[in-house]
Amino acid sequence: MQTKTQPFKFEASKDFARKMDAQDSLKHFREKFYIPKQPNGEDVIYFTGNSLGLQPKTAREYIEQELKDWETLGVEGHFKAKNPWMPYHESLTEQMSNIVGAKPIETVVMNSLTVNLHLLMVSFYRPTFERHKIVIEAGAFPSDQYAVGSQIKFHGFSIENSLIELKPREGETCLRTEDIEKTIVENGDSIALILLGGVNYYTGQAFDMRRITEAGRKVGAVVGFDLAHAAGNVELHLHDWNVDFAAWCSYKYLNAGPGAIAGVFVHERHAEISDLPRFAGWWGHDKKTRFLMKPKFIPIKGAEGWQLSNPPIFQLAALKASLDNFEDAGIKTLVEKSKKLTGYFEFLLSEINDERIAVITPSNENQRGCQLSIRVKNADKNLFKKISDQGVIADWREPDVIRVAPVPLYNSFANVYRFAEILKDCLV
Ligand SMILES: Cc1ncc(COP(=O)(O)O)c(C=O)c1O
Repeated sequence: MQTKTQPFKFEASKDFARKMDAQDSLKHFREKFYIPKQPNGEDVIYFTGNSLGLQPKTAREYIEQELKDWETLGVEGHFKAKNPWMPYHESLTEQMSNIVGAKPIETVVMNSLTVNLHLLMVSFYRPTFERHKIVIEAGAFPSDQYAVGSQIKFHGFSIENSLIELKPREGETCLRTEDIEKTIVENGDSIALILLGGVNYYTGQAFDMRRITEAGRKVGAVVGFDLAHAAGNVELHLHDWNVDFAAWCSYKYLNAGPGAIAGVFVHERHAEISDLPRFAGWWGHDKKTRFLMKPKFIPIKGAEGWQLSNPPIFQLAALKASLDNFEDAGIKTLVEKSKKLTGYFEFLLSEINDERIAVITPSNENQRGCQLSIRVKNADKNLFKKISDQGVIADWREPDVIRVAPVPLYNSFANVYRFAEILKDCLV
């Protein structure tokens, strides 16, 4: 078990957890979500916001508004709905930009994550004979591996020669920033693209995106991030870090529902380059002339120029309901609470002090989000089953990890304390 000096004096007691909850300025946000129930009627301990975030209670009302406008206005809803559909997606841009540290021109909501990664690679993975390699994490999420591998092959290169996978040192589970930088420098001239997860889905490690971007751009590579596990979870400054592009989904920490509409970032410096290769569709065309229906494609400046189709309004409504909560809470305040909550969780796990479990997520709070990944000795899945039977929803990842994500918007210190009690009992 990794331990570290906590900046906070934690105590392993129910009273202490209650005291922390009482002092929590965000505690009322839990009431804004539907918490699934156990068969006995009690709330489950929901720790899978890293997989599917909970439903904001306002989502139904936001979607019903659009159903109502469709019912009463038909096609005229595009202009006359309470929230006219034509510019609806624009009403989410600023809130989404704030979550990822971007300018509004750099952000758009559209499609879903893997689709967006492909669309962005069409523009930003432009391999040449000399510079054709893509750098990813060896343990990248499978969809990213498939997307990257298929892009390499699409351009006539081979995965064997064009894919660099970053592996942790022998005996370690997370990547060291200096090792990532070293790989970048060593392969400098041949790297076309670096595409990492902002937070690794398995280990929960948050990468130093600023340093990686700097190292990548220095050798002339393009740098992009998959922020599926980072958006709404850690503080991001995509614009200031000079990241070229990023994509993320909205169904995890962003609580916009299963298969929710996703987000995209394209740095401002690419906004004006209208001849950047891209797959085009009418929704990415200049708004002033879109309805003149002319054949020549003129992209909107900025991230919106990557849109293809008119967006699904019910999906946008669900996302809007969620982003309004984020705006009220403030991402900085959420991350502050998150650090305390996960720090407390880590403390309680170390107090259990059982060699059958080990946290593989970095113990440095700046190198992780809210998720802790617990490695279970001998891959004993029975332990996971036992804690699930006690009303905990966490998830098991093969071969031997339980991922647990206390989300600051709707999880409490009491939740974390109760989980630790359950885990301790199940280890007996
Ligand atoms: C890191 C990461 N990348 C990509 C995906 C795939 O997302 P989608 O199915 O929305 O394309 C996921 C899904 O969980 C993910 O966690």
